Amino acid sequence: MLLKDHVVVVTGAGGALGSALVAAVAAQGGIVLGTDLVAGAGVDIVHDVTSEASWRAVCEEVEKRHGRIDGLVNNAGIVHVGHVETTEIDDFRRVQAVNVEGVFLGCKVAWPLLRRSTAASIVNVSSTAGLVGSPNHVAYVASKGAVRLMSKSIALHGATFDPVIRCNSLHPSLMDGHMARVLTGNAENQSEAIQAIVAARNPMRRLALTSEVAGAAVFLLSRMSGFVTGSELVSDGGSSAQ
Ligand SMILES: NC(=O)c1ccc[n+]([C@@H]2O[C@H](COP(=O)([O-])OP(=O)(O)OC[C@H]3O[C@@H](n4cnc5c(N)ncnc54)[C@H](O)[C@@H]3O)[C@@H](O)[C@H]2O)c1
Repeated sequence: MLLKDHVVVVTGAGGALGSALVAAVAAQGGIVLGTDLVAGAGVDIVHDVTSEASWRAVCEEVEKRHGRIDGLVNNAGIVHVGHVETTEIDDFRRVQAVNVEGVFLGCKVAWPLLRRSTAASIVNVSSTAGLVGSPNHVAYVASKGAVRLMSKSIALHGATFDPVIRCNSLHPSLMDGHMARVLTGNAENQSEAIQAIVAARNPMRRLALTSEVAGAAVFLLSRMSGFVTGSELVSDGGSSAQ
């Protein structure tokens, strides 16, 4: 019970990693509030992370229900496939709006509620694409790199508080699901094809399981990682170690 009675907000809760995060936080005794653009399983509040007003509504609701936030997982994200020559500025901006501005707004608007916690921890979901380049995902790589360094800036600010507010970025490699299909150009559900692509490149010869990545997030949310802030936790089977 690493997160017993921790109030944890998870964005993008209806997605592949989001639903695993919701399950993992609950399994560790946390009180989880899932938000997503689309209503569905695991989604308590419909929420657009690109909107400050929508973030304020989420935080008002959490304040009413629980009075504080102990954990914030900025997980909602989108991907766009295209290199520098083929990516239109509107597509580039849309990716930054969700993946970068959404994370910034979450940290900013939730800050007063995080300050009420004695164990405040923010986990910003980046990607291995925030550590190394990928020619055909220029907008996505830019956004995930921004999340990585923004998290360090927020961590340094959070460390000046008493109690501190910790902030770390999390860097998964490909996980099976909708985004992996878009990223690998497999529009249809072709798990086997994706597995084959990943097996050829990944030292552990497989995709990341969403439960494994969620487990890494649980560690960052918990008091076990109490002196970990401004760090990058990579969950990629060793692919970025090459
Ligand atoms: N899937 C992968 O292989 C992979 C690898 C590395 C990192 N990531 C990152 O993990 C996170 C989760 O990815 P996933 O695989 O679960 O993707 P997903 O597409 O399954 O889920 C993303 C969720 O975010 C929600 N969302 C999109 N725009 C939103 C908005 N404006 N406001 C609120 N919610 C919004 C979607 O409705 C969806 O439920 C993302 O940040 C992604 O970049 C994914």
